[in-house]
Amino acid sequence: MTDDPITTDVLVIGSGIAGLAAALAAAREGDDVTLATKATRPEGSSSWWAQGGIAVSRDTPEEFKEDIMAASDGTADPDAVDVLVENANGAVEDVLLDTLDIDFDHNGSDHDFTREAAHSEDRILHVDASTGKHIHVPFLNYIDDHDSVEILDDTAALELIRHEGRVHGAMLESDGAVDPYFAGSVVLATGGIGDLYPRTTNPDNTTGDGIGMAALAGADVEGMEYVQFHPTACVREGGERDGDVAFLVSEAVRGEGGLLRNGKGERFMPDYHADAELAPRDVVARAVKAEREATGEVTLDVSPLNFVEEFPDLADNCEEYGIDWTEGIPVAPAEHFLCGGISVDDRGRTTLDRLYAVGECSRTGVHGANRLASTSLLEGLVWGLRAGEDAAGAEPEPIEAPELLERDPDLPDRFARDKFQRLTRVMDENVGVERDPADLQRAMAVLRRLKGEVDAYVRTRTSRSLYELRHASVTALLIARHAAENEESVGTHNLVDASEEPPESTAD
Ligand code: FAD
Ligand code: SIN
Repeated sequence: MTDDPITTDVLVIGSGIAGLAAALAAAREGDDVTLATKATRPEGSSSWWAQGGIAVSRDTPEEFKEDIMAASDGTADPDAVDVLVENANGAVEDVLLDTLDIDFDHNGSDHDFTREAAHSEDRILHVDASTGKHIHVPFLNYIDDHDSVEILDDTAALELIRHEGRVHGAMLESDGAVDPYFAGSVVLATGGIGDLYPRTTNPDNTTGDGIGMAALAGADVEGMEYVQFHPTACVREGGERDGDVAFLVSEAVRGEGGLLRNGKGERFMPDYHADAELAPRDVVARAVKAEREATGEVTLDVSPLNFVEEFPDLADNCEEYGIDWTEGIPVAPAEHFLCGGISVDDRGRTTLDRLYAVGECSRTGVHGANRLASTSLLEGLVWGLRAGEDAAGAEPEPIEAPELLERDPDLPDRFARDKFQRLTRVMDENVGVERDPADLQRAMAVLRRLKGEVDAYVRTRTSRSLYELRHASVTALLIARHAAENEESVGTHNLVDASEEPPESTAD
């Protein structure tokens, strides 16, 4: 044990909406909070990038619940959904309206509620289609100014400190130095897994760290096969970065009348689902993929709406990337959100003592096999508050910290880049929108080997990029394994038999 251990009451890891909410709630309980984040700017969290908005209950929580259950194909946990819908309005009012005074778009004296796919009513609070930054920046500033919270930015958690089923803190790396931080409770709020796929809407360095750390410490994880692909990421066609995501085109655009057209200019969604462009996200993602493969491209036709007036930020994005939106915006599915994660209860408690998980890295059960749009910010806020409150009040107990060996920055960084390329290719080719059981087995074999190679390096070296790779390979393997073990196609987990001959074309 170090002579003078660094201690804090609550250690929160991650500065997205979930981590900020947890820090706020723990500080309100009178605890001292340390919030470590590897982000150096607000844009480092997915929360900043959120577009469509944050859903609340309008008429009754039951209607909201029905939509969540339907979008998940009946797989969401009804008790968890109750927690979400019953606490939605209170949490939004308390934090976003009363504490942060966020000026959501108005329609006269009332809020301008919008609608996205699979919502049966207009219930989404938003600011243009860039809601995330309008929530995230004031929230971050508020927490930064809070007397009881210390924010450590550009600081990455590498490993949890655990003894006999209890978590005592985490090893934090900053500027190459690694120190143990001991805490009464640790709250993981590390977000999603975008870096596991070549095409994602998430910001860089979204490597599944919290899930990797929790799994390695022995916490349960669930539902990892449920990776949500957003159907309308605007992609750059041609050139050096062919196929890269330029920016997300919010589902709200389809909510306001945008239509999907294939390479022949035909509208196709009515052939796939009765709700056409407003079908659940997994259905639209598969349809967009199929039509791109069959006809070369899919575009989002925004001519039915007043695009510039209704979505000025997206119109600016089009201009920035040289996209003439009057010709339709080229779109493709991209990894967007992980519905599974670290198993937690209704207070964010994991299966390890004093370890909590909130936001996208957690599995509350709210999303089942497919998430309803604009419920992730809400889940992060509601569970962040509940977990932060519950996490408060425990004394830190410093113990022997794990010994992480001398860092050797050059080799692991180069090594990490190469291995990441292999990892994303395997995930893209085998664990994407559609999965063939034989491919899943192959992916598992490759990922197991890769994890073994990374583990060998971790035994002798320590660097942030190496640990990100470690967490990404653990998380990728969990996704492939859960996908291989689940024989039921449901929601975002869609099994196909790639060895089957495609049906013969009936065209002349
Ligand atoms: P994040 O906001 O991603 O924050 C994770 C934090 O953890 C970051 O600060 C990161 O730096 C930090 N971190 C990660 N690993 C470590 C580590 N090892 N050590 C220290 N820090 C670490 N949802 C909605 O509800 N409505 C929307 O309109 C919406 N639009 C979206 C649009 C886009 C483009 C994207 C990408 C997502 C969107 N989502 C939306 C989903 C939603 O934004 C995210 O799921 C949600 O913000 C996740 O919040 P979080 O706090 O869990 O994680
Ligand atoms: C979007 O605006 O389309 C994203 C909303 C979400 O992911 O909830």
